[in-house]
Amino acid sequence: MSKSIAGFSKLSKSKKIDWIVDTYFSNADDTKRVLKQYWNSDDKLQQLHDEFIENTITNYYLPLGVAPNFLINNTLYTIPMAIEESSVVAAASKAAKFWLERGGFKTKVISTTKIGQVHFIYKGDFDKLVTFFNQVKSKLITESEAITKNMKKRGGGILDIELRNKTADIENYYQLHASFETLDAMGANFINSCLEQFAKTFKKEALSFDLFSDKEKEIDIVMSILSNYVPNCLVRAEVSCNVEDLTEGSDFSGEAFASKFIQAVNIAEVEPYRAVTHNKGIMNGIDAVVLATGNDFRAVEAGVHAYASKDGRYSSLSHAKVENNIFTFWMEIPLALGTVGGLTGLHPLVKLALELLHKPSAKELMQIVAVAGLAQNFAALRSLTTTGIQQGHMKMHLMNILNQFEANEFEKQTLVEHFKNNTVTHSAVTEALKNLRVSSE
Ligand code: MEV
Repeated sequence: MSKSIAGFSKLSKSKKIDWIVDTYFSNADDTKRVLKQYWNSDDKLQQLHDEFIENTITNYYLPLGVAPNFLINNTLYTIPMAIEESSVVAAASKAAKFWLERGGFKTKVISTTKIGQVHFIYKGDFDKLVTFFNQVKSKLITESEAITKNMKKRGGGILDIELRNKTADIENYYQLHASFETLDAMGANFINSCLEQFAKTFKKEALSFDLFSDKEKEIDIVMSILSNYVPNCLVRAEVSCNVEDLTEGSDFSGEAFASKFIQAVNIAEVEPYRAVTHNKGIMNGIDAVVLATGNDFRAVEAGVHAYASKDGRYSSLSHAKVENNIFTFWMEIPLALGTVGGLTGLHPLVKLALELLHKPSAKELMQIVAVAGLAQNFAALRSLTTTGIQQGHMKMHLMNILNQFEANEFEKQTLVEHFKNNTVTHSAVTEALKNLRVSSE
């Protein structure tokens, strides 16, 4: 039976583990061994990881893989990817190689504006609120100067603050809707600090605004928070080639491939059930790079999926066409990323990943991440519309199944060879391993 506990966060790490083990596990020694085998032997490094979050009991490993041969705007990249799904890095590498031989990826940052809002309740005359806002707006900015000074020096900062009337949605509800340029920082802390300062100034100044009645002076701040919806922090990634070059040396004609591929994209454009899976494939590439570079993949996920619904129906993020015999496949997505601040200067593997990417600016990272997404989508659609996805997937999955059964090196080599010519299914692998073990007894 579970039990509650008071003051858990104040316990030492080993006491926390003792409590977890006593409360939830029957085999204390085994559980502790599993937890401790992931501790780093370098105490300082372990402490760094312990302190990223609260109540750390161990480290949770994900593989960090690399996908080489990404040609992006004529520069070659090897892209780091942190992900557990077995086929993702292989698919990215395949797509990179494919497009390397066809001119590579072309990318462009379209915009870099981020948004934050102060949500508040005001019970009074709207015209008076507008007058108050126009009068106080410059003060909102000057009273935030301690926060914005450094960012401004580097060329970023607050771009604008608007008053938005949302009373059609909720009675007496208004917003200060602010836009920001945060340069190489993802900017969450910067934006939230600015917003909280706006809220303070706004509330304080209202108390002495002569036109307001006593009731109108009582502006009620509900919350001040950045938005992870960043439709004006957009990047475009694209590949294109002659239709005939799509299928060099294969049975398929380029035309047939392009036509099937475009049909698959069109389906994702109009059919939400398919669009979600289609976009999930894009996010396989995006999240893996976002995670490897120490960025917030939940923020990216939320923003990207909202963008996929911007026209009122959830739809494909990518598009494809053939025009004048040129096949073009592209995507525009919102990405709020940072290459300074947060984990980027703290986590040794994040630092390594950024160095591998030639220490990119946030704008460069947006382009690399978008390419990883487009490449992943290309690889998925290429398999889906030709061989089907399971062939490649199950080959990669083979190793997971073998590891699950603790296959030794000899067994792995033998069965990898065997399944080059046989269909991988969970039961076929189980059977083959069983037979191999019996025959080598
Ligand atoms: C699997 O993780 C991703 C795919 O389902 C994406 C897609 O269907 O396009 C293969």
